[in-house]
Amino acid sequence: MAPIQSCGIKVGHIDDVQELKRAKPSEIPDRFIRDTKERPTLDKSINPSSHDYNPATNLNIPVIDLSQLADGSKDEFLNLITACQEWGFFQVHNISLSLKVLERAEKVAMEFFMMPLEEKQKYPMMPGTVQGYGQAFVFSEDQKLDWCNMFALGVEPHFLRNPILWPSKPSDFSETVEVYSREIRKLCKNLLKYIATTLSLNDDVFEEMFGVAVQAVRMNYYPACPRPDLVLGLSPHSDGSALTVLQQGKGSCNSVGLQILKDDVWIPVHPIPNALVINIGDTIEVLTNGRYKSVEHRAVTHKEKDRLSIVTFYAPSYEIELGPIAELVDNHNNPCKYRRYNHGEYSKHYVTNKLQGKKTLEFAKIIN
Ligand code: OGA
Ligand code: NI
Repeated sequence: MAPIQSCGIKVGHIDDVQELKRAKPSEIPDRFIRDTKERPTLDKSINPSSHDYNPATNLNIPVIDLSQLADGSKDEFLNLITACQEWGFFQVHNISLSLKVLERAEKVAMEFFMMPLEEKQKYPMMPGTVQGYGQAFVFSEDQKLDWCNMFALGVEPHFLRNPILWPSKPSDFSETVEVYSREIRKLCKNLLKYIATTLSLNDDVFEEMFGVAVQAVRMNYYPACPRPDLVLGLSPHSDGSALTVLQQGKGSCNSVGLQILKDDVWIPVHPIPNALVINIGDTIEVLTNGRYKSVEHRAVTHKEKDRLSIVTFYAPSYEIELGPIAELVDNHNNPCKYRRYNHGEYSKHYVTNKLQGKKTLEFAKIIN
């Protein structure tokens, strides 16, 4: 591959992880090897040979029954408050979404990643952009690389779509992503209503504020890695979205790999079948004045198994100005922690900086 430029900065040759494995199955180039303090401690279920057993890995993120929220169950709303306030991550099940839609999305995503490199490179992520096939968030030669291949598309509003990046192969890819995204959009709208309810706000508050919400999908394929103790699948970050919906592969690509940082400990997320993982993004943290926080997370790899995730980011329209919602600010007990800003500017700031924990959100923080 030719050297690529990102935002005007030379980032050198970036290896495609699947090709790298094919060419040299047991080699890990230096650029993927993390500094000691960044290396993952691995849960036994991820890497059975790991000796550093960590009791916190038995903790599980909350599971929310969406059908009970739809029925107005008080208990389930209390569970949702705990999930948003103490975890920032939860799984939803009993989603009114056909399992076929999820299965088809997984199938086309895997078919896409299994195509020859030349075919995938017909949809290249251009320098300084985040759509297409390639590694986003790489800005310098000395930055470590993630053990992951990615394919991302802007879905809504339509002006985000770059038609040349919508694959014609697999032949049902685009149609499948379209149907999938429509269903996930409904889910996001419902979740935002429920979240508004937990904050004693009008349930349309987010919908009314967001305008035509921005929706993007990113498929992450993490090939098995000969040394999962040395690399990261995806660098630690919080999401710039309002909400993120993550579907984990069920078929052959189902290893555990997502970890969230809770009380300074990395906790693995063990997805339950037919559930989706939801997380609070930076935008909800700002809007709720920090009551519901975005949570730092990362992905680790597995020695034998590969892994697929399909991730949807749901966020306000770019022209929206936002800041903490007045009802959630109290000058005495809970003073305003974030300034008002334009969401488009935040998005730009997010995609032009490397993933680095929750650093991006400093953009909005009021420092006293
Ligand atoms: C992301 C993300 C985690 C995963 O794409 O933002 O956090 O498990 N993915 O793939
Ligand atoms: Ni993320």
